[in-house]
Amino acid sequence: MSETGQAQLPPRGGPGLPQVRRLVTAIPGPRSVELAKRRSQAVARGVGETLPVYVAAAGGGVLVDVDGNSLIDFGSGIAVVSVGNAADAVVENVREQAGLFTHTCFMVTPYEGYVTVCEELARLTPGRHEKRSALFNSGAEAVENAVKIARAHTGRSAVVAFAHAYHGRTNLTMALTAKSMPYKHHFGPFAPEIYRMPMAYPYRWPGGPAACGEQAAAQVVETIATEIGAENVAALVIEPIQGEGGFIVPGTGFLTRLAEFCAQTGIVFVADEVQTGFARTGDMFACEHEGIVPDLIVTAKGIAGGLPLAAVTGRAGIMDSPHVGGLGGTYGGNPVACAAALGAIATIERGDLTARARHIERIAMPRLLALRDRYPFIGDVRGRGAMLALELVADPTEGTPPNQPAPAPAPDRMVTVAAAAEAHRRGLVLLTAGTWGNVLRLLPPLVIPDNLLLEGLDILDEVFADIARHRPRPRLQPQPQPQPDSLPPTH
Ligand SMILES: Cc1ncc(COP(=O)(O)O)c(C=O)c1O
Repeated sequence: MSETGQAQLPPRGGPGLPQVRRLVTAIPGPRSVELAKRRSQAVARGVGETLPVYVAAAGGGVLVDVDGNSLIDFGSGIAVVSVGNAADAVVENVREQAGLFTHTCFMVTPYEGYVTVCEELARLTPGRHEKRSALFNSGAEAVENAVKIARAHTGRSAVVAFAHAYHGRTNLTMALTAKSMPYKHHFGPFAPEIYRMPMAYPYRWPGGPAACGEQAAAQVVETIATEIGAENVAALVIEPIQGEGGFIVPGTGFLTRLAEFCAQTGIVFVADEVQTGFARTGDMFACEHEGIVPDLIVTAKGIAGGLPLAAVTGRAGIMDSPHVGGLGGTYGGNPVACAAALGAIATIERGDLTARARHIERIAMPRLLALRDRYPFIGDVRGRGAMLALELVADPTEGTPPNQPAPAPAPDRMVTVAAAAEAHRRGLVLLTAGTWGNVLRLLPPLVIPDNLLLEGLDILDEVFADIARHRPRPRLQPQPQPQPDSLPPTH
């Protein structure tokens, strides 16, 4: 009840929500704390959470919690609500479809929305060849199906995955995922015939960032040829920018060399664009940045404005390899989720959200680079579009011989955890990532207003200033100052 004794209406979500940060209680507030207590008695412990504020409404660049706090959203529900939470066209389509029918099962009695989403995927994904799609419920399920399709097409069983990769939490996708804790620990045995290759991780590549792409690709090609045999490999599965691994943008030339090798050897090149897809990186798909046309592309997250939908899209000759009835699932391509996807796609195109993602990079990247130069525990700044990250590290190592590149300093998970927690207390929803848990990642909705984006970046600065005050760590080796022409490209 409000002070006047009237029942309070829940706030309406969507783009009409006031785009302000406003804290009226401590974070989390009392109602969230109450809900957290209920949660502990009802929800399995294994389901984690980043920030225990319970959401009542969301839209644009804010989340409003049950205590009335309005938080800046730098997470987009892990890169899902790129079009903004409760985006108008998504909500309208969902309402209309839910009032018509909510489910028939596309494999029993089909409906138009599924077909239209597949047509849209053929239109939007890289390459003008003939394509087919199949729809699923989650990124992991779609990745699994991409592997099934590649195996059916090639008659081969081996699958190549990469260090720092994340592809999901089902058995096969756990096997493809690199990181043990928390994703795989105690959950084995895992699916066989998965082979892990080095990732072209410029910041940590022993030969330095400039040589990284070429050297890493040479290692991968050599290892596949000598240790697996290319003729045994069905698929190479790769994120064009690694997500959970820490927004690792592969060294230049890495992806193109791998795609070329796959084309030469008949390996199906599978781009997992679950996190990078649908305008997030400033192109509709991250592969486009390097002119790569994958054989199969896996999408989810940003595809449907928050409803569960995922897809595998690819060359007709590969996609049509599995026998009739070999692909599917009860809910895959649910009509409400398909309607939401058509609303999300229309929102991306009408609002030119790829350009918005590049705009976000243009605003945020110089600020993040300036932070790196100010704070010694920021080792690397990277990413593309509205998928940007800071890798936090311990002090740079002393005693590097003159003229030798210093090895990348040790990851610092504790400072990362402290920074994220402090950001949360100040009303900024910020996610972590990375093999060592030492990456802060920025994934704002693409519709976030500039003033909120800038305020979120100011909060980051305040958080780092606090950390620097409490953990003074002088930079031993000055970093080169970024020159305007040495900034990462902003498209
Ligand atoms: C690159 C990538 N692939 C697959 C997945 C799994 O998607 P889902 O959580 O929808 O199963 C994720 C989720 O974060 C992802 O980032």
